[in-house]
Amino acid sequence: MSTVKFYDEANKVPLEMHKVRVVQKLTLLPVEERQKRIEAAGNNTFLLQNKDVFMDMLTDSGVNAMSDRQVAAQFVADDSYAGSESCNRLVKAIEEVFGTKYFLPAHQGRAAENILAEAFVKPGQVTLMNFHFTTTKAHITRLGGSVVELVTAKGLEPQNDVPFKGDFDLNRLREEIATRGKDNIGFVRIEAGTNLIGGQPISMDNMLAVAEICREAGVISVLDASLLQDNVYFIKTRDPKYRDVPAQEIYRKLADACDIVYWSARKLGFSRGGAIITNNADLYTRMRTFVPLYEGFLTYGGMEVRSMESFAVGMLESLDMEYINQGPIFIEYLVSELDKAGVPVVKPAGGLGAHLNASEIVPHLPHNQYPAGALGAALYIAGGIRGMERGTLSEQREPDGTERYAELELLRLAVPRRVFTLSQIKYVVDRVKWLYDNRELIGGLDFYEEPAVLRFFFGRLRPIGDWQQRLVKKFRDDFGDSL
Ligand code: F0G
Repeated sequence: MSTVKFYDEANKVPLEMHKVRVVQKLTLLPVEERQKRIEAAGNNTFLLQNKDVFMDMLTDSGVNAMSDRQVAAQFVADDSYAGSESCNRLVKAIEEVFGTKYFLPAHQGRAAENILAEAFVKPGQVTLMNFHFTTTKAHITRLGGSVVELVTAKGLEPQNDVPFKGDFDLNRLREEIATRGKDNIGFVRIEAGTNLIGGQPISMDNMLAVAEICREAGVISVLDASLLQDNVYFIKTRDPKYRDVPAQEIYRKLADACDIVYWSARKLGFSRGGAIITNNADLYTRMRTFVPLYEGFLTYGGMEVRSMESFAVGMLESLDMEYINQGPIFIEYLVSELDKAGVPVVKPAGGLGAHLNASEIVPHLPHNQYPAGALGAALYIAGGIRGMERGTLSEQREPDGTERYAELELLRLAVPRRVFTLSQIKYVVDRVKWLYDNRELIGGLDFYEEPAVLRFFFGRLRPIGDWQQRLVKKFRDDFGDSL
């Protein structure tokens, strides 16, 4: 992997290996307006209107900038219900990357999870994973299954220097399989780029070991590859064994080792849609039944042809290190600038985005006042920056209605690939730093509308007390008439 050195070290910044040729105008509302908009959104950043957002760091899902080749490919799509050429091109591209035999389409990642859960989770069964993802867990529990998380204890520490915090505790995995017995286990899910612990990678050796343990025990191993692209970057840069191994070899080795691989093409592939692949004819047939039922015919599965075309090109581009690099190096820059400013942030930097550690930023707020959600509302007020709560608010209540407190209270600032410039990233650092210096002003939140399932998507909360008015006043005192 080549790097660009700077003549003067002081000038060293992440260097984009692309240029921008289409732009979208942004609006930054005055702080008083921002406070009104977040109130109208029930203090839930999912309910903000994008026109009211300056820096949309909610997610990198479906909002990464496409390449010129991806956009061009959309113009030659083959619109047909069955046997579309767009699907054939997609299948070919996925085969090129992963080298697998069978492919099933889905309209996005969670749709693939629904199919997996329908096919392999029976009531009372557990699924074992390094860490849950919200939608994965919701599908599994909806069908009467449950989730057991086996990430190593180090993975849950907000700051350390462990390069692969997403690793499974392999001894616990062996124990769980031995004590529960294979018939009580739906499947074992390996999540690359472990999302909810801060986009933290899992090592190649650990993934291969999990797959091997599953194979020996006769348990299905499933790789969630949604965040695999960043994970491949970390395998190549943090594990000397893989430094010179081509990305394609890494993708293929994983697909060979795991029974099933699935992903969201809103992430891997920089497009829209989802995919499930396998080399196992029996597993393929068991999953296939559900595709026409929930998604659509086998040659589109809920995706529209233009998305399949950009997905195909995006998959091939995900073999290119200059394409893979951009997210992780921008995130690394954001994390290190926040760290230098003294802001508690998850370290080491992972993929996906920077993760602010709300437990340390607002330690005066207990879990049931949703510290990460409150920090998210405050950051929108401070800078028109939209992050995503990844803490207790994103958890499901226990079946008896009690709160399940999150292991980590994080505010995620996703860095969609090739979307923001470095000056915008610096603006984020500046506003987060201001907010951190005024952190004692941030108060808690309380639900006034709380849906039973995936409450973080449409739940509404109110601030406890008048802290938001006081935050706006402090902003005016410090920034004068600035936006
Ligand atoms: N698996 C992982 C690891 C994910 O991060 C996501 C989505 C999914 C599955 C589901 O895919 O959105 O296409 O249905 N993550 C998005 C995010 C929502 O913002 O992190 P999907």
